[in-house]
Amino acid sequence: MTSHFFWNGGPVAFRSGETIAAALLRAGITDLGRPSATPGGRVFCGIGACQGCVIAVAGAAPVEACLTPAREGLRLGPLPAIGAEHA
Ligand code: FES
Repeated sequence: MTSHFFWNGGPVAFRSGETIAAALLRAGITDLGRPSATPGGRVFCGIGACQGCVIAVAGAAPVEACLTPAREGLRLGPLPAIGAEHA
């Protein structure tokens, strides 16, 4: 049985024990959508140090995709751009 979470509404398959970042990269998703920060918006260090992979989780606090195990049905996406909520 294949498990899935959702990135920007689209299903992404993952393997048991895989991190969110690993599943996204295997699916060809490298742009995690954070504008202007360097190395933000992509998986850079893979060990939780650079914060480049921080993403939004529906109904929960943001997480580091490189450290967070994928779970069935998670709804994930880029963090909102800073200040976008006031645009
Ligand atoms: S890739 Fe650096 S914190 Fe996740």
